[in-house]
Amino acid sequence: MKSLAAYGAPAMPALVVVGFFVWFANWIPQTRWQPPQKLAITVGMTPAELAVQGETLVRQRGCMTCHTVEPGAGIKGAGRGPNLAEVASRRASGVQGGPGTLVEYLVQSLYEPGAYVVDGYSNIMPASTAAPAKLGYEEVVAVVAYLQSLGARPSVKIGDVPRPSGAPAAPAVAAAAIADPRTLFDSLGCAGCHSLEAGKKVLGPSLDVDGLGHTAAARKMSVEAFLVESIVDPKAYEAKDYPPGVMPQDYGARLNAAQLKSLVDYLAGRKS
Ligand code: HEC
Ligand code: HEC
Repeated sequence: MKSLAAYGAPAMPALVVVGFFVWFANWIPQTRWQPPQKLAITVGMTPAELAVQGETLVRQRGCMTCHTVEPGAGIKGAGRGPNLAEVASRRASGVQGGPGTLVEYLVQSLYEPGAYVVDGYSNIMPASTAAPAKLGYEEVVAVVAYLQSLGARPSVKIGDVPRPSGAPAAPAVAAAAIADPRTLFDSLGCAGCHSLEAGKKVLGPSLDVDGLGHTAAARKMSVEAFLVESIVDPKAYEAKDYPPGVMPQDYGARLNAAQLKSLVDYLAGRKS
């Protein structure tokens, strides 16, 4: 377990305007669409105001690919990750494991999801500061405030939460377990159903970079968020003209976070 101080001392920026669309546009330079409402997170915001922004971020940045918010359903909701409704009251009632205080627990869940893996789940959650969510510091605070609001009163403000340490949190997986992405693509059977060449259909659509970019843009997602969704939760979006339910539904359980990230980075960045 890491203490909060291990993540670096909190600093106090004067005014921070977080332009979600600026980030998003960088991922989809070839497509134009109307930006979603711009999120402005400022230092003076109350915890309740931050929680409102945090809720939007959780919906926009792909968290709901794996999580659900189903009040009353208990930890096991319908998603591949824990049901986040009441996460705060659940921790308050004394769940074992992970850092003691709620804020420390939530911060670690976001920065280093592999450091403590909730019982009954696999280690597939990517660090929230890395792709696809890429939360900036102020966004992390807003998301923590929102998560606190699920079963408790939000209390954090900008500066109360440690900043992520400089290097992106390394997934808690031995380097040897992170196979080269091309090897993963073949050994997981992806290559049997997908070509990487534009326009070449096998059983599933070709996974060329431009095609993925267009499909992702049509879904109003970054390419990386779309890839995570397609691999972990193929039912969320089924490509037209292809047989539904053919793509295996269990990659979310078979891949660890490092393997998922390696595969997503490879497919998102490959030159066609
Ligand atoms: C690829 C699937 C996936 C994505 C995307 C994902 N998570 Fe998770 N998350 C999980 C899984 C699985 C767990 C349980 C295992 C663990 O603790 O790492 C988890 C655990 C958590 C927990 C601890 C929950 C508890 O009940 O103790 C929180 C909080 C959380 N995630 C928040 C988020 C937020 C916020 C995002 C978006 C920035 C996100 N997750 C994105 C899969 C995901
Ligand atoms: C048995 C065949 C099969 C295997 C194996 C398979 N897929 Fe798929 N995949 C499909 C089919 C069919 C679709 C289209 C229907 C759908 O969207 O579910 C698809 C859709 C996708 C999409 C969305 C593409 C788009 O343009 O809509 C992605 C991304 C993807 N797969 C990646 C992968 C990766 C990565 C692997 C390996 C980890 C994999 N698939 C393994 C059959 C497969």
